[in-house]
Amino acid sequence: MNLEDIKKICIVGAGTMGHQISLAVALAGFKVTCTDISQEMLNKAQNFARTYLAERVAKEKLSQEQADRALASLSFTESLEEAAGDADFVIEAAVEKLDVKRKLFAELDSITPSHAILATNSSFIVSSEVAYATKKPDKVCNMHFFYPALVMKLVEVVQGSHTSQETAQVTMDLCTKMGKTGVLLKKEIYGFLVNRIVSAINNEALFLADIGIASPEEIDTAVVSGLGHPMGPFRLMDLLGIDLYYDITMERYRMTQDPREKPSPMVVEKVAKKEWGRKTKKGFYKYD
Ligand SMILES: NC(=O)c1ccc[n+]([C@@H]2O[C@H](COP(=O)([O-])OP(=O)(O)OC[C@H]3O[C@@H](n4cnc5c(N)ncnc54)[C@H](O)[C@@H]3O)[C@@H](O)[C@H]2O)c1
Repeated sequence: MNLEDIKKICIVGAGTMGHQISLAVALAGFKVTCTDISQEMLNKAQNFARTYLAERVAKEKLSQEQADRALASLSFTESLEEAAGDADFVIEAAVEKLDVKRKLFAELDSITPSHAILATNSSFIVSSEVAYATKKPDKVCNMHFFYPALVMKLVEVVQGSHTSQETAQVTMDLCTKMGKTGVLLKKEIYGFLVNRIVSAINNEALFLADIGIASPEEIDTAVVSGLGHPMGPFRLMDLLGIDLYYDITMERYRMTQDPREKPSPMVVEKVAKKEWGRKTKKGFYKYD
């Protein structure tokens, strides 16, 4: 299969990542169907697409024709069968839970045409964890976008030992077609490149705050002013979701059983209080 054979792309999950990936794919000229188990999330994604495209036209970043074309090529449905049944490429962006992803990949395997590539946008889980839920592991890989997906250029494509050269190449070509910068990892490693580096920083920041060396605000100031990062680790966790950070850490702990990998007490407390960051208006910081 070549990039030219891809006409229709299915995005599974309309959350923080899925709604923007859907729009980015539509803007690259593909027919897109976004599916989610929540009609509310689908409605939000659809409203976002309309508002975003109108704003881009108003700012003269897009022509009215480009916006109309993107909107017309984008559809939303609760039915996985309808979304994936005729898809040539699937990007799974559902919750970061291995059991959910495995079940989805097994379903996608039976629904999609045999040539379809199945990619996961997981932040940490390598695709071999889901590939064997299908009968075509050679067509499974990681395609990891960054938040916000409409803005961030980087996409990590991971070619596991089960992933064919063709699958990796078509996925890299899709990144280029979308105006993204793809980096190809030739071996699987949990967390890929960027999140491994970010995790090392986050874990140290949480450790320093947990043992009372400095407050989250002071640590963020140190990282921004001392390292030149655009945002400190606590503000970044608020932005991406402390609940997601907890799920990721728990998944890692389940895999390694290393007590040092357990979520920090501060993260456990925030999750229990439903202070998940920007999305709940409170995390390490408060938001209006
Ligand atoms: N948030 C980030 O910054 C970020 C960045 C890169 C990658 N990711 C990865 O992207 C994926 C999604 O993360 P998110 O932050 O968008 O999560 P989210 O919680 O915002 O959205 C997940 C969506 O998946 C839906 N969902 C759950 N089960 C489903 C199913 N069986 N079928 C269809 N939809 C289902 C939920 O209803 C929800 O709308 C995760 O694997 C995450 O690791 C997240």
